[in-house]
Amino acid sequence: METKIIKIDPIKPELKKLGYCAKVIKSGGLVAFPTETVYGLGACVYLEDAVKKIFKAKNRPLDNPLIVHISNLEQLKSLVKEIPEKAQKLINEAWPGPLTLIFKKNNNVSYIVTGGLETVAIRMPAHPVALKLIELSNCPIAAPSANIAGRPSPTNPKHVIEDLFGKIDIIIDAGDTFFGVESTIINIATDPPVLLRPGPLPVEKIKEFLNEDIIIPDFAKGLAETKVAMSPGTKYRHYSPSKPLILVETSNYSGLDKLVRKAMKLCKEFRKKKKKVLIIASDETKNNYMDCIVVSLGPRSNLYEVAKNLYKTLRLIDELDVDVAIVEGFEERGIGLAIMNRLRKASGMNIIKV
Ligand code: TXA
Ligand code: MG
Repeated sequence: METKIIKIDPIKPELKKLGYCAKVIKSGGLVAFPTETVYGLGACVYLEDAVKKIFKAKNRPLDNPLIVHISNLEQLKSLVKEIPEKAQKLINEAWPGPLTLIFKKNNNVSYIVTGGLETVAIRMPAHPVALKLIELSNCPIAAPSANIAGRPSPTNPKHVIEDLFGKIDIIIDAGDTFFGVESTIINIATDPPVLLRPGPLPVEKIKEFLNEDIIIPDFAKGLAETKVAMSPGTKYRHYSPSKPLILVETSNYSGLDKLVRKAMKLCKEFRKKKKKVLIIASDETKNNYMDCIVVSLGPRSNLYEVAKNLYKTLRLIDELDVDVAIVEGFEERGIGLAIMNRLRKASGMNIIKV
């Protein structure tokens, strides 16, 4: 099928161009659009056949539910049974923004969207293009990340083109997304609330907003899979390059010597076996590695920058002429928890602790 690539200004979107994209959504087409986190692959939430096409284009298992994106609170009311007090608190503090909340769905939401669940994940994105597209489409937009299932999420239009060109109607090109990792997902229906996926809105902030503790299960740290449908997506392989990726972690990131020494040792061992190694380091450590190919994810002092560079670097592993990659771990504070969740999953639990 023919895929149109449409360039749109990320801050002041051209209404005529977005109006055309909205028309395609309304008539049952698929549009890849930017959000502040990653690019999404959107369809009108009410058009079942369009929503089914999302699963097909991504090769996504049908039991992995989608997030519904809204541009105003009337739309939220039209999709859910109730808005609990805790949800309202978080909405006041964090929407529009990178926070997805789980609600009890009403009959307006099809089981195709929720993968058969009675609950629906909803967020109001903080990207001018996403908000305007939803508004002009006059319909909430169901959208997973715009990548082939299992690959790293797209943080710029080039990634979307790599994965979905020829399979969807439109790819909006509005440059890089702002955060680079997917939204924080929290289930407020349980007591205490449970973090289902860490993201750009830190769990520390959510605790502050709610003034209560939040459960952080092992799967939210990237350390285990869910067997039950707590957050169905977590049972599938994610963010993975096709080559082996080894994650070297430490419990104390105030000294980095041990971490670097271990990564260097691994690199030497691989080189003895004639394997080409890519080291994924940080600005603070990148100059310590001799005789290997090194890229930096950014400074440890600004983990937002590290998050922003994460997925394009994971894609780079497949693009470069290397056999194996070794990545340094990062401190699990703020957005660091999201970074470590993605790295642990991307490594397929190939983790070495020093
Ligand atoms: O930042 C984001 O959240 C991006 C942009 C496009 O908005 N979207 C995104 O969607 O990351 P996706 O489909 O790649 O991830 C959605 C996650 C999946 O892990 C899914 O299992 C979970 O949300 N999810 C969806 N509905 C759920 C529900 N009712 N209960 C629990 N988890 C749910
Ligand atoms: Mg995804």
